[in-house]
Amino acid sequence: MVDVILGLQWGDEGKGKIVDFFAPEYDIIARFQGGPNAGHTLYVKDKKIVLHQIPSGIFHDKTVNLIGNGVVLDAVTLKKECETVASFGVDYTKNLYISRRANLILPTHRALDKASESLKGNDKIGSTLKGIGPAYMDKTGRNALRVGDLLDKNFTSQYIKLRLKHQKLLDSMHFQEDISAWEDEFFEGIEFMRKFKIVNGEYFINDKISQGKKVLAEGAQGSMLDVDFGTFPFVTSSSTISAGVCTGLGVAPQKIKEVVGVTKAYCTRVGGGPFPTELNDETGEKLRKIGNEFGATTGRPRRCGWIDLVALKFACMINGVTQLVMTKADVLDAFDELKVCSAYKIDGTEQQEVPYQMTKVIIDPVYVSAEGWNTDTSKLTDYASLPVRMKNYVTHINNHLGVDIRYISNGPGREQIIPAL
Ligand code: GDP
Ligand code: IMO
Ligand code: MG
Repeated sequence: MVDVILGLQWGDEGKGKIVDFFAPEYDIIARFQGGPNAGHTLYVKDKKIVLHQIPSGIFHDKTVNLIGNGVVLDAVTLKKECETVASFGVDYTKNLYISRRANLILPTHRALDKASESLKGNDKIGSTLKGIGPAYMDKTGRNALRVGDLLDKNFTSQYIKLRLKHQKLLDSMHFQEDISAWEDEFFEGIEFMRKFKIVNGEYFINDKISQGKKVLAEGAQGSMLDVDFGTFPFVTSSSTISAGVCTGLGVAPQKIKEVVGVTKAYCTRVGGGPFPTELNDETGEKLRKIGNEFGATTGRPRRCGWIDLVALKFACMINGVTQLVMTKADVLDAFDELKVCSAYKIDGTEQQEVPYQMTKVIIDPVYVSAEGWNTDTSKLTDYASLPVRMKNYVTHINNHLGVDIRYISNGPGREQIIPAL
């Protein structure tokens, strides 16, 4: 049995915290897509830690963590992350497994990512420059090196062959970058990776499922960044939605049970691309300041805006969301009035559908006002004690989406989460 936790917006919904919270109920936490573009923040013993590729179950002694085949893995980042995790007293060699079929990010992928962005002029995607797009292109282009190849004695010659291909591409893009330092780090990272438990992830996970173990698949990015259903071309290069769990881990669809969608109580986006409810005013600034909305991977300020129920309903549909978690509810504590986008007006007509190409139309969000609760909720621990206006906000969202918010997160700490009963 597999449950899934994934983001319903443009990433950074607080997935890391929520996975860490639920981890004790599971035997295995598995990442199924993305790579070091992700930044999942957890608090362990009041200390902040940001995970990029290691699943967010790593701080639980009994939890097995798997990096699945759908991930693009950067050995350099992995080594650094492991060192950080070790500084918390965690023996990462014990509970971290990596699928042989996961694809490797090479230093030239990072250079290609930079080159591609620099050629885009004013239409930059705002990539994290971690090499994600080029690494997935090598996967679908059938050129990639995979984790299993590390164990092959021809690994270095395979690497050189691919590097030459990349160099030709970089030359054709008139892009120059000295990657020699990255390359040294890369080979150190590769050496480091050899000590991991490298497994056939699909057998590993299916065997565990047959033994009755509980698996939690941890999404990265968010549904609106999905390569098919996101705000293309301003998306990432993987399937961030629940369907990605099947291809990214090798589990059949009928094995998936709960799909837990994580949404902020408002909305953010980092990088370029459409964002209908964005607030380029002091309210947006207030959300950024109170919510501390700065990217966990790149440190960039996140764009902020009101919650968008049109995009959320779309995300619930394509993921088959069975329950919701609303994070960062406490960030709205200091607002007199809140707004909820309940339709898009395009060319004067109100509609409930996310348009095929958000970049080609002007979307005028239709808002419904909600009363703010203006109360500090960050120390509350049960639903009954929440302000009525906050409960009304939750009920409004539940009614619109047809799926219920089951947990409300009211602070970054592990214990700051309230079941919405
Ligand atoms: P992820 O990528 O989805 O895991 O999210 P990030 O870690 O990139 O961003 C979420 C940020 O919000 C992190 O700094 C978290 O510590 C923080 N956070 C998570 N849940 C809450 C919450 O309920 N309230 C507040 N104030 N912060 C939260
Ligand atoms: P987590 O897992 C927020 C965004 C980038 C850029 C676009 C493409 O922490 O929620 P990429 O490097 O993937 O080619 O960038 O996607 N992006 C994210 N935004 N959270 C993330 O991950 C993101 N990963 C990528 O900012 O707009
Ligand atoms: Mg993040």
